[in-house]
Amino acid sequence: MEPIARLVKVSIPNYLAGLPIPDSIGGWFRLGVKDWFALVPSTAFLVGMGYMSYRAFCPHGRPMPHGRVNLKIKKDIAKVVDTVDIEDISEKAVFCRCWRSENWPYCDGTHGRHNNECNDNVGPLIVKKKD
Ligand code: FES
Repeated sequence: MEPIARLVKVSIPNYLAGLPIPDSIGGWFRLGVKDWFALVPSTAFLVGMGYMSYRAFCPHGRPMPHGRVNLKIKKDIAKVVDTVDIEDISEKAVFCRCWRSENWPYCDGTHGRHNNECNDNVGPLIVKKKD
């Protein structure tokens, strides 16, 4: 525990105290090249931590949390089963397969946002009547 305690109580505070962080907004404009280079490691660390937090806690920031597909639809029941009578379909019906639609079980186009945010390729199931 001694090395960790020393890191937290001495090393990190000394490192942070040594960073050339100005006292005012105008001070940022007076920083030299050497000062900016000194800020690169800590800035990279903060950006990395922010990105990892986003990936960990934002539902659209990660592909599927722990293999779970359904994040919000009818979460109070054990299994989501929907029935649509084929006679109720006029010419075609577009069903959601991404589990993100606000108009479940029908697609509302939310899969596009999901695909952009998660680099995924899901899309709807389109059921059409024969001509
Ligand atoms: S909204 Fe889910 S497939 Fe379109």
